[in-house]
Amino acid sequence: MQYYTIFVFCFLVFQPFVYGQLDYKFYDSTCPNLTKIVRFGIWSAMANDTRIGASLLRLHFHDCISNGCEGSVLLDESSSFRSEKDAFPNRNSARGFEVIDTIKANLEKACPGTVSCTDILTLAARESVFLAGGPYYALAMGRRDGLTANITTANTDIPSPFESLENIISKFTTKGLDLKDVVSLSGAHTIGFAQCFTFKPRLFNFNGSAAPDPQLDTSLAASLQTACPNQDSSDTNLVPLDSVTTTKFDNIYFKRLVNNSGILGSDQALMSDNRTASMVINYSKFPYLFAKDFGASMIKLSTVGVITGQNGQVRNKCNVVN
Ligand code: HEM
Ligand SMILES: *[C@@H]1O[C@H](CO)[C@@H](O)[C@H](O)[C@H]1NC(C)=O
Ligand SMILES: *[C@@H]1O[C@H](CO)[C@@H](O)[C@H](O)[C@H]1NC(C)=O
Ligand SMILES: *[C@@H]1O[C@H](CO)[C@@H](O)[C@H](O)[C@H]1NC(C)=O
Ligand SMILES: *[C@@H]1O[C@H](CO)[C@@H](O)[C@H](O)[C@H]1NC(C)=O
Ligand SMILES: *[C@@H]1O[C@H](CO)[C@@H](O)[C@H](O)[C@H]1NC(C)=O
Ligand SMILES: *[C@@H]1O[C@H](CO)[C@@H](O)[C@H](O)[C@H]1NC(C)=O
Repeated sequence: MQYYTIFVFCFLVFQPFVYGQLDYKFYDSTCPNLTKIVRFGIWSAMANDTRIGASLLRLHFHDCISNGCEGSVLLDESSSFRSEKDAFPNRNSARGFEVIDTIKANLEKACPGTVSCTDILTLAARESVFLAGGPYYALAMGRRDGLTANITTANTDIPSPFESLENIISKFTTKGLDLKDVVSLSGAHTIGFAQCFTFKPRLFNFNGSAAPDPQLDTSLAASLQTACPNQDSSDTNLVPLDSVTTTKFDNIYFKRLVNNSGILGSDQALMSDNRTASMVINYSKFPYLFAKDFGASMIKLSTVGVITGQNGQVRNKCNVVN
């Protein structure tokens, strides 16, 4: 009986270390206030900058889709690797690093050396979605931080708004994500902004014609031409990805795709394949279906290529390996 009790005790206490798996109770005893601290960090950052939740959600995606969720996107350049912050999809675009650093500093006071930067970014994305009115999804914890970054894979694995839907789908499926994940996760574009250069080819002389992209609503094309005049100086102007409810996490993004009002060519392309179009139409009609599927897909995204157990490390500072 005693031995059995001791065995059960050891099993429960050391299970995450033995099996090296993600666990819903991972920080319950070592950092009980973790969620509160992250939520407060996101809440304060949002009070100062209503766009920051969108930026953090995107940062988590860029972390996970390139080499797995291991915090590589947070690392600055070092003598042994180039920073993913300089990769084309991130340079002058990825933001939110200071928010992660601030939350990490607060966590180092509450529970020193305990919570990985990768788990912080994963939770930051969840809290950002939730505080914007989106779904709350339960996350298992215990991701460890990687020891390196790779600018090459950041350039090749993060989808581009200029590539075909077929290409984008394969960038998801090679990571174990499926067609439904592509569509539901694209719904993240219900919040945040895009720079004009990411969709400008749709506005002027589309594919050598004299007109804009025919898959772009004509009155929206006209207003985007005003926001993004046909000169290089407008390249970095910002346009909301969902101009109807820019800071609210809802299903309006999908309603807009149905009426040809997607901003990025890669967004609108979801309507040009009947497999994805039927899901877009479903999400445009049923907000709760979108919320449920988005949460489920985020959980899948947050487990792509994770490092657990004794591998990797818990960084002391998120921008540099220990
Ligand atoms: C499906 C392929 C995707 C493509 C081609 C794509 C492309 C882009 C582009 C070009 C921007 C604008 C960046 C800029 O102008 O600086 C953007 C913004 C954004 N993306 Fe995506 N994205 C994709 C999927 C995702 C996914 C899966 C998520 C999250 C789950 C996501 C979240 C966001 C968010 C929230 C923003 C706004 C960021 C901000 O305002 O700072 N995207 N995306
Ligand atoms: C958690 O936060 C509460 C206040 O919100 C504090 O009283 C408590 O000491 C904290 N617990 C730990 C373990 O840091
Ligand atoms: C507030 O947001 C702006 C814009 O993102 C940022 O530059 C600034 O550092 C933020 N200030 C604080 C106190 O977080
Ligand atoms: C980055 O990843 C690519 C493709 O997997 C690989 O060939 C390259 O050696 C890696 N670079 C570094 C610095 O790890
Ligand atoms: C397309 O849908 C959006 C969101 O529902 C709406 O604001 C916009 O007016 C619609 N555009 C057209 C041309 O119907
Ligand atoms: C989708 O389109 C393909 C080719 O355009 C067609 O063969 C197929 O029957 C369509 N499927 C559905 C469900 O409409
Ligand atoms: C649309 O949603 C319903 C449930 O509301 C589901 O049964 C159906 O398979 C969905 N269709 C697609 C194409 O996802």
